[in-house]
Amino acid sequence: MSAIHATRARDVVVRVNRLTRAFGPVTVLDSLDLEIERGAFVALLGRSGSGKSTLLRTLAGLDSAPAGVVTVPQARAVVFQEPRLVPWKRVWRNLVLGLRRADPRAVALAALDEVGLSHRIDAWPLTLSGGEAQRAALARALVREPELLLLDEPFAALDALTRIRMQRLVAKLWRAHGPAVLLVTHDVDEALQLADRVIVLDQGRIASDFTVDVAHPRHHADSRIEALREVLLARLGVGGADDDTGDP
Ligand SMILES: Nc1ncnc2c1ncn2[C@@H]1O[C@H](COP(=O)(O)OP(=O)(O)O)[C@@H](O)[C@H]1O
Ligand SMILES: [Mg+2]
Repeated sequence: MSAIHATRARDVVVRVNRLTRAFGPVTVLDSLDLEIERGAFVALLGRSGSGKSTLLRTLAGLDSAPAGVVTVPQARAVVFQEPRLVPWKRVWRNLVLGLRRADPRAVALAALDEVGLSHRIDAWPLTLSGGEAQRAALARALVREPELLLLDEPFAALDALTRIRMQRLVAKLWRAHGPAVLLVTHDVDEALQLADRVIVLDQGRIASDFTVDVAHPRHHADSRIEALREVLLARLGVGGADDDTGDP
């Protein structure tokens, strides 16, 4: 068992060494190091403006000028807070945009089926609800068969019930397809619900790195989850239970 674990531990799909990124005089990422194992589900927390999206964009290959060494798999996909669908293309065409497949509609249908959206295959993006549009964005990521799935606060704009459904969907897709996931979120409970590992970005570096060794389904009241929640909130600058001046 431990030997298998040791072998797996070396199977790293993301390797970042001394990544530095500045915008003008402001250094956002400061010689950051990070490794992500194949198939791991990692949640990335950090205060607003701490550089989470900058790091994610770098891993997605969307940042023009990072300094440092960044190794990522070729097969990767990103889902942002906004679905970013092209409005003048039907849902299924959005999914396969830029892909070369023999039967693109069938590929799109299979992915839409997995996210529960096959009935909207011919819909125009602007006719989708917020939750449906994010399902379509997830399906678009799926058809790329990513080894690394990058999610930048993908549920932040959704209502609470839709968010819970989407969290369950992401967990299901992760179990079915096994990509490494990096989920940026500002929601400590979401991180603790979904991830095996929770990291905190602060002062341009990974300041905390926790393993969440709790079986699924997880309960908010689990003492290990509660303990981790307190530690994470403290790392994020939110005080103890008697400090009720923070966010609701
Ligand atoms: N393209 C850009 N030009 C100038 N400043 C930027 C740019 N992108 C991000 N920043 C700045 O970098 C910091 C980190 O941003 P970001 O990575 O979006 O943070 P987070 O996602 O953690 O909220 C912020 O201060 C932001 O204003
Ligand atoms: Mg951000």
